[in-house]
Amino acid sequence: MRVLVTGGAGFIGRAVQRRIDAAGHEAVVFDRALDGADDIVDVPRLRAALRGCEAIIHLAAKVGLGVDLSDLDGYARDNDLGTAAVLRAAAEESIGRVVLASSMVVYGEGRARCPDHGTIPVPPRAVGDLAAGRFEPRCPRCGTDLVPELVPEDTRLDPRNVYAATKVHLEQLAAIWARETGGTAVALRYHNVYGPGLPHDTPYAGVAAIFRSALVAGRPPAVFEDGRQRRDFVHVDDVARATVAAVRAGLPAGPTALNIGSGHVVTIGEVASRMAMIMNGPEPVITGRYRLGDVRHITADSSTARRLLGWAPAVPLDQGLADLL
Ligand code: UD1
Repeated sequence: MRVLVTGGAGFIGRAVQRRIDAAGHEAVVFDRALDGADDIVDVPRLRAALRGCEAIIHLAAKVGLGVDLSDLDGYARDNDLGTAAVLRAAAEESIGRVVLASSMVVYGEGRARCPDHGTIPVPPRAVGDLAAGRFEPRCPRCGTDLVPELVPEDTRLDPRNVYAATKVHLEQLAAIWARETGGTAVALRYHNVYGPGLPHDTPYAGVAAIFRSALVAGRPPAVFEDGRQRRDFVHVDDVARATVAAVRAGLPAGPTALNIGSGHVVTIGEVASRMAMIMNGPEPVITGRYRLGDVRHITADSSTARRLLGWAPAVPLDQGLADLL
């Protein structure tokens, strides 16, 4: 099978390409890093690249949290317009399957349980609470700290930053494409992806890359809030296997969204400590600083992907972090 991989020269794209090769298929890489052309919105070029392909893996995107609103149109262009161009080219070339990179950030703060008022969508945290060092989201009715829950795919979407909003739009466009063409669209809501090749030293770098840079320079990792915020770090090789499995899984026509996480929840403080230990570096510092755009906990329930894709993550966090470092 021949598969077009947009963003195929990027961090996740390179791992996907290796996986496609290993499975005996052919990856056609479409990436501005290869020819310098700004081509993700160029429908004729996309159509030419698609000839002979059976499926698309659409990874090309502007990633990260967004530095400030001067990024707004850049995100909209690369992510919204880019996805629209890819889907139009797919329709015009009669491609039946598209797998797209979405993100856990589409859920915003996700959902959590109040001991008295049950499971509720988590409201944004008040600036006053954050400034006072009260980081746990609270029940809007009684003010009690909420207990985070694993987020299943049918949880209400609630994007809280520009990047997250473009990923919700990507899913909506893909669902419309699937209905109009009778094709299969699979949006993969990736968790925090890490592993060899992780981008670093950019304003858009994830926390694992930032901690690594600090440790390499002999500085302690600087942990925001109280370090008890939770995430799920999933290794890039596991993400690549899930992504290729989604192309081959024979999922039904129409849209499907799947959480892709390791299923192993850790706190950011724990990750910092483990990385410092592996590197034999200084103990992490809990700074109490916070970023307004940050959500407190993001933890997925990835059991649907396991069931539908016949996939299971294989790289344990300690081994993955050791490789990374
Ligand atoms: C990350 C990705 C996002 C992806 C999402 C999927 C980045 C920048 N963001 O979001 O694209 O869609 O996962 O789940 O890669 N922190 C520190 N110290 C630092 C930097 C961050 O303690 O120096 C903390 C943050 O406050 C946050 C946590 O680490 O609580 C994770 O932050 P980060 O890696 O920036 O991104 P996510 O919000 O998890």
